[in-house]
Parts: sequence; structure tokens; C-alpha cells
Amino acid sequence: MPLHLLRRPRRLRRTEPVRRLVRETRLSVNDLVWPLFVHSEPRSIEVASMPGVFRLSPDDLLRACSDAARLGIPAVAIFPSVNPDLKDPLGSHALSPDNILFHAVRSVKALCPDLLVITDVALDPYTSHGHDGILAANGVAVDNDPTVEILCRLAVMLAQAGADIVAPSDMMDGRVRAVRESLDVAQSADTMILSYAVKYASALYGPFRDAVGSRIGKNTISKATYQMDPANRREAGMEAELDYNEGADIVMIKPASYYLDVIREVSDNSPIPVAAYQVSGEYSQIHAAARLGWLDLERTRDESLLAIKRAGADFILTYFAREMAESLMRRGG
Ligand code: PBG
Repeated sequence: MPLHLLRRPRRLRRTEPVRRLVRETRLSVNDLVWPLFVHSEPRSIEVASMPGVFRLSPDDLLRACSDAARLGIPAVAIFPSVNPDLKDPLGSHALSPDNILFHAVRSVKALCPDLLVITDVALDPYTSHGHDGILAANGVAVDNDPTVEILCRLAVMLAQAGADIVAPSDMMDGRVRAVRESLDVAQSADTMILSYAVKYASALYGPFRDAVGSRIGKNTISKATYQMDPANRREAGMEAELDYNEGADIVMIKPASYYLDVIREVSDNSPIPVAAYQVSGEYSQIHAAARLGWLDLERTRDESLLAIKRAGADFILTYFAREMAESLMRRGG
């Protein structure tokens, strides 16, 4: 005897056309931002802990950006990998006209004017200790207010180099308002602020720190003194609201996969768009498992990104952006 069930949810799962029809969440190329690393060397070098991700030569950066534009990826986020000889405790190279990031932004905007360029505003690529700001005289903390002053100057220089969006990733208090004011005074009122509003002190940034050479030493202060405690959800709402009130155009949550509850909560309450950063460690974990033959790379990649979108992210920074865009194009968008 067949069961007389009024509800048979499996009816809507039987074939791909039905599944396509009732699918709630879809990933598209419009959801993707591609983070790219650039260094001043003439050759690109693969980051050992991030298969398929390179510290790009300036020429290869331009190639990657024209690929992004051709694929319809709306934005790239460019990170500099600075020669260790140029680093000092104050991160002085950040504000040097020779900072390779300024050159990179200028050349990308000249080649691909319609591709949005996002740049971090933080000092970690430039400081010898790897912190996002400068240390207080007693050396026990990153000094908030003097750091913000430097970040404001960096943000203005990035805007003047052509960055469409500046992204304070430092987690200093009050930096969004200060950066907004500095941009406005410097006649960069159109430059957008994507704030790393909800950035957790995460183990998952390890491979990124390999890529930009910002691993911090074991005996120094911890980034947990400024990045958020992974245990805290309520605080995320407060951080997002603060940055909204300080003038952020978009708030971001980072990392993404371990923080889907936070993405949901912030996106339910945010009056402005919400981004999520699928960080280096999320990417590397998927690759590592795939290399061992334990997970299917493409399916895990697709599912990870879909989950972040389903949680409420309006767009996603992901090292999978290019291959995801290519795969979506092959599948007809
Ligand atoms: C720098 C910054 C970090 C990331 C983005 N911007 C690292 C950090 O805070 O130590 C991490 C991104 C990733 O892991 O992919 N402030």
C-alpha cells in the first residue's frame, strides 16, 4: 500500500529542471570579488599554502585583471607583498610614493577602467612585526589613535591612485569615520568604504600571511587585542552598526564559513550591503582535502560559496572567483 502523503517534498527534487525552478539561492558572477596579490618581482610565484594563488608580477596582475574584466567579475581586491627590506616597525613604506600598491592600482585602472579596484587600509603588509598598526611605546598594544591617523593618509593616497573602494581591515576603533572625513576633505567623496566591520581573530588567515609575508612572531602581542573574539555574536551587530553610523558604505564579515550565523544576523539587520570574505584558510582547507582525494574540489567550492550567499552575503571575496566565474559561464551563468 502506498502511503497517502499530502506532502512529498521529494516531488520537487526528482529532476534537475524542477530543482532549478525552485532553487532559492543562486550564485552569479555578480557576487564575486577576486583577491589578488602583487609583488615587485618580474616573475609570479605560487603561494605554497594556496594552490593556484600567486604573488603576481606587475604584468601578470594586469593579465589577471583583464581576465576578471572579460569574465564579468565586478571587482578585484589587490594586496601588496612588500619586500621585507622595506618593512619597519612604523610601516613607513605604506605612505611612500614607491609603495607598489599605488603603482598597481594606477596601472590596473588605466587598463581596465570599469573593473572596480578595492584596496585594504591597514599596515600589516608594511610593518616588520606584521601588526595592522603601530605599537604603543610600551610595546604591549597596537596604538589605536596614531594608527588611525596613518590609515587616513593611506586611504587618501589609495583613492588618489584610483582605488574605487578602500577597505579598512585593521579593526582600530573609530577609523571609518576618520577615513570618511579624510576622503571627503581630499575631494574623494565618491570613494566608497567597505569596512571589515566584523573581523574575527581567526586561525584561518595563516596562508594569507604567508602570501603577504606578515606572519607575526610567537612572542609579540596577539591580534586578538584588536580583532574580534570568535565566541562573540552580539558584538558583531554592534561593530556593524558602529561602522554604518561612521559612514561605511558596505560592511564585511570575515571569515565566512565558520561565521554563517553572524552573516545571517548582520544581513537581517543591516541597512547597507553586507559582504563576506571567504579567507585564505577556507580556500586552503578545501584544496588540501581535494589533494588528498578526500573531497571533490569543484563541488565543495560551489557548496561553500552558495552557503555564504544563502546566509545573506550580498557578495563574496573569494580566491575561487576566477574559476567560479569560468564555471558559471560554462554552465550558462
Ligand atoms: C590584513 C588582512 C588580513 C586578511 C585580509 N586583510 C590578515 C590579517 O588580518 O592578519 C586575511 C585574508 C585571508 O586570510 O584571506 N589586515
